[in-house]
Amino acid sequence: MTKTTFQIVEASEIVEVRTRILRPGQWPLPEHYPQDHLSSTYHFSAKYEGQTIGVATFMVNSLPKDISESVVAKSEKTTCLQLRGMGVLEPFQRQGIGGKIIRFATQLFCEEHCDPQTTLIWFNAREHAIAFYQKLGFQTSGDFFDVPKIGAHKIMWSVLRDVS
Ligand SMILES: CC(C)(COP(=O)(O)OP(=O)(O)OC[C@H]1O[C@@H](n2cnc3c(N)ncnc32)[C@H](O)[C@@H]1OP(=O)(O)O)[C@@H](O)C(=O)NCCC(=O)NCCS
Repeated sequence: MTKTTFQIVEASEIVEVRTRILRPGQWPLPEHYPQDHLSSTYHFSAKYEGQTIGVATFMVNSLPKDISESVVAKSEKTTCLQLRGMGVLEPFQRQGIGGKIIRFATQLFCEEHCDPQTTLIWFNAREHAIAFYQKLGFQTSGDFFDVPKIGAHKIMWSVLRDVS
Protein backbone atom coordinates (compact mmCIF):
# COMPACT_ATOMS: atom_id res chain seq x y z
CA MET A 1 0.00 0.00 0.00
CA THR A 2 2.95 2.33 -0.60
CA LYS A 3 0.90 4.22 -3.20
CA THR A 4 -1.67 5.27 -0.60
CA THR A 5 -1.86 9.02 0.03
CA PHE A 6 -3.69 10.95 2.73
CA GLN A 7 -5.21 14.38 2.40
CA ILE A 8 -7.89 16.89 3.42
CA VAL A 9 -10.66 16.93 0.83
CA GLU A 10 -14.06 18.47 0.19
CA ALA A 11 -17.18 16.72 1.47
CA SER A 12 -18.24 16.01 -2.10
CA GLU A 13 -15.20 13.72 -2.51
CA ILE A 14 -16.05 11.42 0.35
CA VAL A 15 -19.81 11.13 0.84
CA GLU A 16 -20.27 8.31 -1.66
CA VAL A 17 -17.53 6.15 -0.17
CA ARG A 18 -18.75 7.03 3.33
CA THR A 19 -22.20 5.78 2.45
CA ARG A 20 -20.95 2.62 0.72
CA ILE A 21 -18.97 1.65 3.82
CA LEU A 22 -21.28 2.76 6.63
CA ARG A 23 -24.76 2.56 5.09
CA PRO A 24 -24.39 -0.07 2.38
CA GLY A 25 -28.15 -0.55 2.05
CA GLN A 26 -28.56 3.10 1.09
CA TRP A 27 -25.89 3.15 -1.60
CA PRO A 28 -25.72 4.99 -4.01
CA LEU A 29 -27.58 7.69 -2.04
CA PRO A 30 -24.89 9.84 -0.40
CA GLU A 31 -25.32 10.38 3.32
CA HIS A 32 -24.70 13.98 4.32
CA TYR A 33 -24.22 15.27 7.85
CA PRO A 34 -25.63 18.71 8.64
CA GLN A 35 -22.12 19.96 9.50
CA ASP A 36 -20.48 18.60 6.33
CA HIS A 37 -20.08 22.00 4.72
CA LEU A 38 -19.09 24.09 7.75
CA SER A 39 -15.63 25.68 7.55
CA SER A 40 -14.81 24.10 10.93
CA THR A 41 -15.42 20.59 9.57
CA TYR A 42 -12.50 18.63 8.11
CA HIS A 43 -12.83 15.69 5.76
CA PHE A 44 -9.94 13.29 5.26
CA SER A 45 -9.42 10.67 2.61
CA ALA A 46 -7.00 7.89 1.83
CA LYS A 47 -6.48 7.36 -1.87
CA TYR A 48 -4.95 4.38 -3.62
CA GLU A 49 -4.04 4.90 -7.25
CA GLY A 50 -6.31 7.94 -7.26
CA GLN A 51 -9.36 6.11 -5.85
CA THR A 52 -10.81 7.03 -2.46
CA ILE A 53 -10.52 3.94 -0.26
CA GLY A 54 -10.91 5.41 3.23
CA VAL A 55 -12.66 8.40 4.80
CA ALA A 56 -13.12 10.24 8.08
CA THR A 57 -14.77 13.51 9.09
CA PHE A 58 -14.00 15.65 12.16
CA MET A 59 -16.44 18.38 13.21
CA VAL A 60 -16.72 20.74 16.17
CA ASN A 61 -19.41 19.30 18.41
CA SER A 62 -19.90 19.27 22.16
CA LEU A 63 -19.96 16.03 24.11
CA PRO A 64 -23.29 14.24 24.57
CA LYS A 65 -25.05 15.24 27.80
CA ASP A 66 -24.95 11.79 29.33
CA ILE A 67 -21.24 11.18 28.90
CA SER A 68 -19.49 10.13 32.11
CA GLU A 69 -18.49 12.73 34.66
CA SER A 70 -14.78 11.98 34.30
CA VAL A 71 -14.82 12.92 30.63
CA VAL A 72 -16.89 16.02 31.27
CA ALA A 73 -14.37 17.14 33.89
CA LYS A 74 -11.55 16.78 31.37
CA SER A 75 -13.50 18.59 28.68
CA GLU A 76 -14.51 21.73 30.56
CA LYS A 77 -11.75 23.83 29.06
CA THR A 78 -11.49 22.06 25.74
CA THR A 79 -12.54 22.22 22.16
CA CYS A 80 -14.46 19.07 21.34
CA LEU A 81 -14.17 17.47 17.92
CA GLN A 82 -16.51 14.67 16.95
CA LEU A 83 -15.24 12.00 14.57
CA ARG A 84 -17.92 10.74 12.19
CA GLY A 85 -18.02 8.66 9.05
CA MET A 86 -14.85 6.65 9.72
CA GLY A 87 -14.47 3.84 7.24
CA VAL A 88 -12.20 1.92 4.90
CA LEU A 89 -13.50 0.00 1.89
CA GLU A 90 -13.61 -3.71 2.68
CA PRO A 91 -10.82 -4.92 0.35
CA PHE A 92 -8.48 -2.44 2.02
CA GLN A 93 -9.41 -3.09 5.67
CA ARG A 94 -6.87 -4.50 8.17
CA GLN A 95 -3.93 -3.09 6.21
CA GLY A 96 -3.24 -0.09 8.41
CA ILE A 97 -5.23 2.46 6.38
CA GLY A 98 -7.79 3.36 9.06
CA GLY A 99 -5.10 3.93 11.66
CA LYS A 100 -3.11 6.06 9.24
CA ILE A 101 -6.14 8.27 8.45
CA ILE A 102 -6.68 8.96 12.17
CA ARG A 103 -2.97 9.64 12.77
CA PHE A 104 -2.72 11.89 9.69
CA ALA A 105 -5.72 13.90 10.90
CA THR A 106 -4.63 14.18 14.53
CA GLN A 107 -1.06 15.15 13.61
CA LEU A 108 -2.41 17.88 11.36
CA PHE A 109 -4.73 19.14 14.11
CA CYS A 110 -1.78 19.18 16.55
CA GLU A 111 0.47 21.08 14.14
CA GLU A 112 -1.97 23.55 12.62
CA HIS A 113 -5.42 23.85 14.12
CA CYS A 114 -5.78 22.75 17.74
CA ASP A 115 -4.10 22.74 21.11
CA PRO A 116 -3.17 19.07 21.67
CA GLN A 117 -3.52 19.51 25.45
CA THR A 118 -7.05 20.91 25.45
CA THR A 119 -8.66 19.42 22.37
CA LEU A 120 -10.80 16.36 22.98
CA ILE A 121 -11.90 13.95 20.26
CA TRP A 122 -15.00 11.84 20.80
CA PHE A 123 -17.34 9.66 18.75
CA ASN A 124 -19.93 6.92 18.84
CA ALA A 125 -18.01 3.71 18.11
CA ARG A 126 -19.61 0.65 16.59
CA GLU A 127 -19.05 -2.34 18.86
CA HIS A 128 -16.87 -4.24 16.39
CA ALA A 129 -14.59 -1.22 15.88
CA ILE A 130 -13.87 -0.53 19.57
CA ALA A 131 -10.64 -2.58 19.53
CA PHE A 132 -9.43 -0.62 16.50
CA TYR A 133 -9.92 2.68 18.31
CA GLN A 134 -8.43 1.39 21.56
CA LYS A 135 -5.20 0.61 19.69
CA LEU A 136 -5.03 4.29 18.76
CA GLY A 137 -5.37 5.40 22.39
CA PHE A 138 -9.10 6.08 22.68
CA GLN A 139 -11.05 5.05 25.79
CA THR A 140 -14.65 3.96 26.13
CA SER A 141 -17.18 5.81 28.27
CA GLY A 142 -20.50 4.53 29.58
CA ASP A 143 -22.66 1.66 28.47
CA PHE A 144 -23.55 0.34 25.06
CA PHE A 145 -26.51 2.00 23.36
CA ASP A 146 -28.39 0.97 20.25
CA VAL A 147 -28.48 2.90 17.00
CA PRO A 148 -31.44 1.66 14.95
CA LYS A 149 -30.49 -0.41 11.90
CA ILE A 150 -26.78 -0.28 12.80
CA GLY A 151 -26.37 -1.84 16.25
CA ALA A 152 -24.54 -1.40 19.53
CA HIS A 153 -22.30 1.61 20.05
CA LYS A 154 -20.20 3.09 22.85
CA ILE A 155 -18.92 6.62 23.26
CA MET A 156 -15.14 6.76 22.93
CA TRP A 157 -12.82 9.70 23.50
CA SER A 158 -9.25 10.87 23.91
CA VAL A 159 -7.38 14.08 24.50
CA LEU A 160 -5.77 14.92 21.14
CA ARG A 161 -2.20 14.63 22.46
CA ASP A 162 -2.82 11.01 23.55
CA VAL A 163 -3.85 9.67 20.12
CA SER A 164 -0.99 7.69 18.58
C1 LIG B 1 -12.99 -0.06 11.67
C2 LIG B 1 -12.15 0.32 10.44
C3 LIG B 1 -12.30 1.81 10.14
C4 LIG B 1 -10.67 0.01 10.75
O1 LIG B 1 -9.89 0.42 9.64
P1 LIG B 1 -8.72 -0.54 9.12
O2 LIG B 1 -7.99 0.14 8.03
O3 LIG B 1 -9.33 -1.85 8.80
O4 LIG B 1 -7.83 -0.67 10.44
P2 LIG B 1 -6.24 -0.80 10.55
O5 LIG B 1 -5.78 -1.81 9.55
O6 LIG B 1 -5.64 0.55 10.50
O7 LIG B 1 -6.12 -1.41 12.00
C5 LIG B 1 -5.37 -0.82 13.05
C6 LIG B 1 -5.35 -1.81 14.17
O8 LIG B 1 -6.67 -2.08 14.64
C7 LIG B 1 -6.96 -3.46 14.49
N1 LIG B 1 -8.30 -3.59 13.99
C8 LIG B 1 -8.82 -3.07 12.88
N2 LIG B 1 -10.11 -3.40 12.75
C9 LIG B 1 -10.40 -4.16 13.82
C10 LIG B 1 -11.56 -4.83 14.26
N3 LIG B 1 -12.71 -4.74 13.57
N4 LIG B 1 -11.49 -5.53 15.40
C11 LIG B 1 -10.34 -5.63 16.10
N5 LIG B 1 -9.20 -5.01 15.74
C12 LIG B 1 -9.24 -4.30 14.62
C13 LIG B 1 -5.96 -4.00 13.50
O9 LIG B 1 -5.67 -5.34 13.77
C14 LIG B 1 -4.76 -3.13 13.72
O10 LIG B 1 -3.99 -3.61 14.78
P3 LIG B 1 -2.42 -3.86 14.59
O11 LIG B 1 -1.85 -2.52 14.20
O12 LIG B 1 -1.99 -4.32 15.92
O13 LIG B 1 -2.33 -4.87 13.52
C15 LIG B 1 -12.56 -0.51 9.17
O14 LIG B 1 -12.45 -1.87 9.49
C16 LIG B 1 -13.96 -0.23 8.67
O15 LIG B 1 -14.13 0.68 7.84
N6 LIG B 1 -14.97 -0.99 9.11
C17 LIG B 1 -16.34 -0.82 8.60
C18 LIG B 1 -16.93 0.54 8.94
C19 LIG B 1 -16.88 0.80 10.43
O16 LIG B 1 -17.30 0.00 11.23
N7 LIG B 1 -16.35 2.00 10.78
C20 LIG B 1 -16.26 2.41 12.17
C21 LIG B 1 -17.51 3.10 12.57
S1 LIG B 1 -17.46 3.57 14.29
